[in-house]
Amino acid sequence: MAKIKVGVVGLGMMGFTHLDAYHDMEDVEVIALADANPKRLSGEERPGGNIEGQAQGGFDFSKVRKYTDAQALINDPDVQVVDICVPTPGHLEWCKAAFAAKKHVLVEKPLARTAADARQIAELAGAAGVLAMPAHCMRFWPGWTWLKAAVSSAKYGKVLSASFKRTASHPAGPFYKDGAACGGAALDLHIHDTDFVMHLFGMPASVSSSGYSSITSEPDHLFTQYHFPGGPVVTAEGGWAMTQGYPFVMQYTVNFEKATAVFDISAENPLRLYEAGKEPVAIDLPKGMGYAAEIAYFIQCVKTGKQPETVTLAQGADALRIIEAEVASVKAGGKSVAV
Ligand SMILES: NC(=O)c1ccc[n+]([C@@H]2O[C@H](COP(=O)([O-])OP(=O)(O)OC[C@H]3O[C@@H](n4cnc5c(N)ncnc54)[C@H](O)[C@@H]3O)[C@@H](O)[C@H]2O)c1
Repeated sequence: MAKIKVGVVGLGMMGFTHLDAYHDMEDVEVIALADANPKRLSGEERPGGNIEGQAQGGFDFSKVRKYTDAQALINDPDVQVVDICVPTPGHLEWCKAAFAAKKHVLVEKPLARTAADARQIAELAGAAGVLAMPAHCMRFWPGWTWLKAAVSSAKYGKVLSASFKRTASHPAGPFYKDGAACGGAALDLHIHDTDFVMHLFGMPASVSSSGYSSITSEPDHLFTQYHFPGGPVVTAEGGWAMTQGYPFVMQYTVNFEKATAVFDISAENPLRLYEAGKEPVAIDLPKGMGYAAEIAYFIQCVKTGKQPETVTLAQGADALRIIEAEVASVKAGGKSVAV
């Protein structure tokens, strides 16, 4: 079968991370790149990732078509899939353009700057009849797919409580300094956990969040309680306001009726399971991150013509709806806000 032909728009940390993933896949060929910055386009300037092993390069820039204008890449008749990795406020514009050209779209998270824009993307994709998916990588991440399966199967009983933590120092670059563009850590970083909470437990009835802005105009560090009446107690901390040099922290602790699961990305064995009457065990996980599995899944959807189910555009919009309630709660001094 012919390889699926992809064009990547936006060569920042995420564009390069996606290029790494495509590089290792046999059924896909990246035939075109677009970036407004010629140094990024030539591969001369390479942004670094915030997780060790991310955005390493290894991609041969000499063999692809290069466009400084995203519309020109979208117009390229050979491009079947447009992979949108530009800063968040551009997601709506380039999704619209790609749908108008009847191209399939993988678009980085957050799906858009606002829930309303995200809903528009979902509607336009439906009307265009193309395949599209927001790149919520945690739904494909080793140790997190294990958690989803454990919760869904109720193998260890039901969940009594779950807490998530994702903290970092502030990423470099003008996009991340501009709260109106990036939405602070709430929209940009913490949405990974908000989306995963929704993936596990559905929409919360309401949220209570406390936080502060110290870098951008939006919450740069927040603590949220997600309210599931009659359900588990669920909290998440997210923020990028830590001092430079602080490592990237990504953790969860989930307490089931019959076991406790603890994930810590910095540990040699990131996932440990504690069951009553048994020795704690390290769960064997595939090596690596969630990006390659996420991209491979979307490419499989394109090959089979099936709309993605592991994560949908509507869910991308719902994650933003919860984040908007969290931000409203922070701004209301921690008052509970309905979702
Ligand atoms: N899934 C994840 O874990 C994850 C991690 C980081 C960032 N992201 C998301 O990925 C997106 C990009 O983030 P980043 O850190 O790579 O940003 P970045 O600022 O490092 O890079 C963005 C790139 O897009 C280019 N660009 C901007 N507008 C363009 C246009 N109209 N046409 C062509 N190129 C254009 C810029 O020149 C730049 O090279 C954001 O939405 C961000 O939230 C996701």
